[in-house]
Amino acid sequence: MAGSNSTRCCRCFVSTTISLGLAALFMWLRNCGITYSIDEFYVPALNKTANQSRNTTIAFDLKMENRCKYKGIYYDAINVSLYYGQSRSIFVGNVSIPGFYQGHDNKAHRKESVKSEGVPWKTALRSNGSKAVFRVDLGMVVRYKIMASKSKLHNVRVGGAVEVDAEGKKANKKGIKLISKAPQQGRYSPCVPMFLLSVLLFCW
Ligand SMILES: *[C@@H]1O[C@H](CO)[C@@H](O)[C@H](O)[C@H]1NC(C)=O
Ligand SMILES: *[C@@H]1O[C@H](CO)[C@@H](O)[C@H](O)[C@H]1NC(C)=O
Ligand SMILES: *[C@@H]1O[C@H](CO)[C@@H](O)[C@H](O)[C@H]1NC(C)=O
Ligand SMILES: *[C@@H]1O[C@H](CO)[C@@H](O)[C@H](O)[C@H]1NC(C)=O
Ligand SMILES: *[C@@H]1O[C@H](CO)[C@@H](O)[C@H](O)[C@H]1NC(C)=O
Ligand SMILES: *[C@@H]1O[C@H](CO)[C@@H](O)[C@H](O)[C@H]1NC(C)=O
Repeated sequence: MAGSNSTRCCRCFVSTTISLGLAALFMWLRNCGITYSIDEFYVPALNKTANQSRNTTIAFDLKMENRCKYKGIYYDAINVSLYYGQSRSIFVGNVSIPGFYQGHDNKAHRKESVKSEGVPWKTALRSNGSKAVFRVDLGMVVRYKIMASKSKLHNVRVGGAVEVDAEGKKANKKGIKLISKAPQQGRYSPCVPMFLLSVLLFCW
């Protein structure tokens, strides 16, 4: 009796340890952040100290960070679209960044500029206390490289709003993180139920 009890206890201990290990591995694999942010943003025409610059170019620095330890990213062209205002009602310009490969644990920057059109400059300059807002949207198609294999194509769409101060530059000192517009799906993790199930099976 005592023997079978200790066998069961041992089996339970081993399986619990293995499940915990697998759960930890799974979490590590999932915790693989790929982030996009606007690190710099400059609208010369909204720089009030520059005496009504007629320069309608908008310049920005896009940062792409791949913090995954095991995953590389093949970017096809990255389409950047700019809009004036919080809602995407006034399209003001776009640019396409050529595709490239980003290895694991890597940060990439792309400094780009867009010749804007249709920005209601008078309104934007007049906005007294409130700051002018631009929306930046990215649309791209990517493949992930895991070990030696290439994943299928994934559509990635992210966006964010950038507030511009009286000098025409990004008001927030920190980078503006661009977040996914698609509803977050596949976020559900099977770890916890799997873990509970295996403990139940082996420790019953
Ligand atoms: C705004 O314009 C002034 C005058 O030309 C210039 O000194 C300043 O650097 C500009 N601001 C930014 C953020 O570039
Ligand atoms: C802006 O215009 C004012 C008056 O015309 C002038 O005194 C000043 O030097 C100008 N500033 C710049 C940055 O050009
Ligand atoms: C217009 O502004 C952009 C972005 O700051 C700058 O790169 C460009 O040299 C400016 N063009 C002129 C004509 O001032
Ligand atoms: C930029 O916008 C124009 C006009 O809407 C569109 O025809 C073009 O395909 C766009 N280019 C990119 C790279 O999104
Ligand atoms: C800014 O202030 C002026 C005068 O105080 C006012 O006439 C104008 O409507 C204001 N503009 C905005 C966008 O609030
Ligand atoms: C990027 O823009 C080009 C040109 O408009 C278009 O053909 C392509 O489908 C766009 N890609 C994405 C991912 O939106």
